[in-house]
Amino acid sequence: MKKNYSKYFKKPSLSSARKRIEKVNKIEFTIAKKYEKIGNGKNFLVKTYGCQGNEADSEKMAGVLTKLGFNNCSAPEEADIILVNTCAVRDNAEVRIFGELGRLSSLKRVNPNLILGICGCMPQEENVVEKILQKCHYVDLVFGTHNIHKLPEYIYAAYLQKERVVEVFSNVGDIVENVPKIRKNLKKAWINIMYGCDEFCTYCIVPYTRGKERSRKSENIILEIEELVKEGYKEVTLLGQNVNAYGNDLDINYKFADLLEELSKTEMKRIRFTTSHPKDLDLRTIEAMARGNNIMEHFHLPVQSGSDDILKKMNRKYTKKEYIHLVKLLKQHMPNISITTDIIVGFPNESREDFEDTLTLYREVEFDSAFTFVYSKREGTPAAKLVDTVSEEEKKNRLHELIEVTKEVSNSKNNQYIGKVVEVLVDSVSKNDEDFLSGYSRENKLVNFKGDVNSIGKIVSVKITGAKTFYLKGEEI
Ligand code: SAH
Ligand code: SF4
Ligand code: F3S
Repeated sequence: MKKNYSKYFKKPSLSSARKRIEKVNKIEFTIAKKYEKIGNGKNFLVKTYGCQGNEADSEKMAGVLTKLGFNNCSAPEEADIILVNTCAVRDNAEVRIFGELGRLSSLKRVNPNLILGICGCMPQEENVVEKILQKCHYVDLVFGTHNIHKLPEYIYAAYLQKERVVEVFSNVGDIVENVPKIRKNLKKAWINIMYGCDEFCTYCIVPYTRGKERSRKSENIILEIEELVKEGYKEVTLLGQNVNAYGNDLDINYKFADLLEELSKTEMKRIRFTTSHPKDLDLRTIEAMARGNNIMEHFHLPVQSGSDDILKKMNRKYTKKEYIHLVKLLKQHMPNISITTDIIVGFPNESREDFEDTLTLYREVEFDSAFTFVYSKREGTPAAKLVDTVSEEEKKNRLHELIEVTKEVSNSKNNQYIGKVVEVLVDSVSKNDEDFLSGYSRENKLVNFKGDVNSIGKIVSVKITGAKTFYLKGEEI
């Protein structure tokens, strides 16, 4: 059935997404009476791809849909609304999503009222929205990262009025407070401390899909954390694309280190954060981390490359030497800290020597682990214009070579834990072996251990008896 478009019709534009507007609107989320019960007796499902920012957004969508009366379900066949929350950071993710949308559309034969929606970072790209408009008539609802708070209106138009809604804003900078959330985990929570990214690394689409960098007020963050303490939460992860830039856009002198300092005085047992940008990591932050007992000894510090030349072409604004200096400071202040990273291999025209610089840096820093990626060309970013002479095959070989090094270093780092006692927040029975429990240590090491099932949800001490590449083994003491 071909649908009429609703009044909500706006396509994205990457060139206007590049612009940084000054004004940040602060909005308090409310639901108009008219929308309150539109979901009664109906089910929804949100499928999430991409980073923790998307996980956090999906929890907001679930919160809003629940307020509208919908129930959360896990089987697509039972859903009346399916939202696919997408990631645009690399192209392989996009290919998968179109396949998934096609498959989900077949459910409409059984349930013609099913609303199929796509949201998140992919719709922020104009070529994605064009493709949906031209080829995917079964997609009823398209919205981006800036308008989750308008979900009640969109659902009303799409579900009750049977209209096709396509609304993506490219250039807004709103901060919406009080959006309800249904969190997936009862002990560990995501908390956005800021939105957007102003770094413009030359390979990266995120500054275009997420808009300008904007920080939430610290009062709101602290209130949310205090609420979570009351609800029995044990761990929060503070989210931002570059948490070290927190506060730069606020008109008071209050930075990430100040936030950590204040949060270390709350009753929250464990505080983590992600992601950090080396250029903005300062000594005050490291000191606040070291002082705060509830701030975990783990730092995810994406380096991307060990070659100064490539770092420059990536617009990362630090050198290998400066990066190593930060690692030294972290280790000096927290001797047991674990350090993890992100690395891109095969940035346009990366030479064998550039790549070897990355391997050397990896061994020198002794990273605990790394997320490793082959460079993926993103239309609209500066790096997409570069003519590249390195073959895809060579890039894949480099990735494999790097992964071997990461495994070797992880193994040796993990071996150093044998005989030590670590503190673990117990998540659940281990997925692979029901005789074991599993959880994460302060250093963010996955620990599988023999213990008491009553410990699930608690923080316990575990003696490490064995080490693998990706996890530690132990016994509760
Ligand atoms: N803001 C965070 C995370 C961004 S996305 C940060 O700066 O660390 C997560 C990771 O994806 C990045 O760190 C980078 O390693 C990788 N990435 C981003 N764009 C990419 C691209 N075009 N191709 C391959 N990897 C990419
Ligand atoms: Fe992308 Fe760089 Fe921003 Fe991270 S800091 S999201 S890699 S532009
Ligand atoms: Fe992907 Fe968007 Fe996060 S592009 S990595 S979901 S910010």
